[in-house]
Amino acid sequence: MIHFAAKIERNDPCWCGSGKKYKNCHMRFDDKIKTFQLKGHITPDRSIIKTPEQIQGIKESAKVNMACLDAVAEKIRAGMSTEEIDRIVYETTVSMNAIPAPLHYEGFPKSVCTSINEEVCHGIPDEKHILKDGDIINVDCSTIYRGYFSDSSRMFMIGDVSEEKRKLVQVTKECVEIGLENVIPWTFLGDMGSKVHEHAVRNGYSVVREIGGHGCGIEFHEDPFVSYVSKPGEEMLMVPGMVFTIEPMVNMGTDDIYQDDKNGWTIYTRDGKPSAQWEIQVLVTETGHEVLCW
Ligand code: MF3
Ligand code: CO
Repeated sequence: MIHFAAKIERNDPCWCGSGKKYKNCHMRFDDKIKTFQLKGHITPDRSIIKTPEQIQGIKESAKVNMACLDAVAEKIRAGMSTEEIDRIVYETTVSMNAIPAPLHYEGFPKSVCTSINEEVCHGIPDEKHILKDGDIINVDCSTIYRGYFSDSSRMFMIGDVSEEKRKLVQVTKECVEIGLENVIPWTFLGDMGSKVHEHAVRNGYSVVREIGGHGCGIEFHEDPFVSYVSKPGEEMLMVPGMVFTIEPMVNMGTDDIYQDDKNGWTIYTRDGKPSAQWEIQVLVTETGHEVLCW
């Protein structure tokens, strides 16, 4: 990444594109980041801090993203194949002049990820996968609109779902809400992630370690990696203008997972017990946070 930070003079135009002089715009902001850097913390590179124009673009993308999940929510039911969910997402996305981000992403063949019960994530929609009474399913939707990326996912409960699976879905949602409350500028991702982890563990669950959240907006997956098995005071400093996802995968049993060696994508729990996930995309603001899509 190119870093011009040291070269900007006080009276130069600010790097954010505001047109203001650097000294009247992001100079103090950069200096503050530097104080954390000097103490040995991981700090965000300028390239992952979004400008107001980029934030606007991501918000437009997020509208399409949420419209897709709303359309799925309206139609999802027992007897439907995950292929039909894929079609709903594809058609909604394209009708709004957007592009489904997963389609052809590193060879992913469909427009959305659909992960049922013990499937942790990256389930591939298929006409042979029919939703049945008692299933829980994560629908993970990612969108490109005018070059801007959005990413969110929701859980759906099909028909009569057992008490223990309902609780898993509920607690996982609470994990995301707790994470969100802890998106506070000038604190650390580890402060946030550890709170997410605590809530899952308190309820007898585990959180997947290898896969987590990520910066998102100009690209599908940007820095930082957002872990939920992190420790307070660790990981990257959160500063206004950062956009990332909170998307813990919470397992009813152990955190062990494995990848489908036939399709090369789907991740399952090793013990075969159910897993749940909700995903939001969040902007760090001057005073706290703003949810971009859920
Ligand atoms: N939406 C997933 C995420 O949250 C990414 C899925 S990649 C895909 O990062 F190719 F499987 F779509
Ligand atoms: Co994501």
